[in-house]
Amino acid sequence: MKRGTVTEIQLPQIHDPRGDLTFVEGGIHIPFQIARAYYLYNVPVDSNRGGHAHRELEQVVFALSGSFRMKIDDGSARSEYWLRDPRRGLYLSKLIWREMDSFSQGAVCMVLASHRYDESDYLRNYDDFLQALKDKTR
Ligand code: TYD
Repeated sequence: MKRGTVTEIQLPQIHDPRGDLTFVEGGIHIPFQIARAYYLYNVPVDSNRGGHAHRELEQVVFALSGSFRMKIDDGSARSEYWLRDPRRGLYLSKLIWREMDSFSQGAVCMVLASHRYDESDYLRNYDDFLQALKDKTR
């Protein structure tokens, strides 16, 4: 059974007394063609987000400000990552179950995505996610 993958992505930083600058270039820093960007903000500190996987979508998640936790499940192993550095992104391949919580006050989460929004790409039920993983190997 082929599992999804999660890896950390480090972006460049131009350090300057006037303020730091980080940039993202399509085709260089992100392992897919960027079709969409979206961001979460005004997130209550006790909020739980995510709770789904994707059939095809790949994403890179950043904490542009503040911090939050990402709980990752590839169908057999679980791990968690704290995002708190705007230079560091978390790449999630397709077929990765993710949950997000422990948002700090004022946290901003930005996501770069490989496809436009498509509700039919979501696996919002954990058993459907496991089934999709099994189907992948048939
Ligand atoms: P969802 O992806 O479930 O949020 P999260 O994983 O961050 O908890 O999306 C929440 C709602 O927003 C859902 O109704 C779909 C809608 N949405 C869009 O319309 N376009 C988008 O690009 C995204 C990411 C979500």
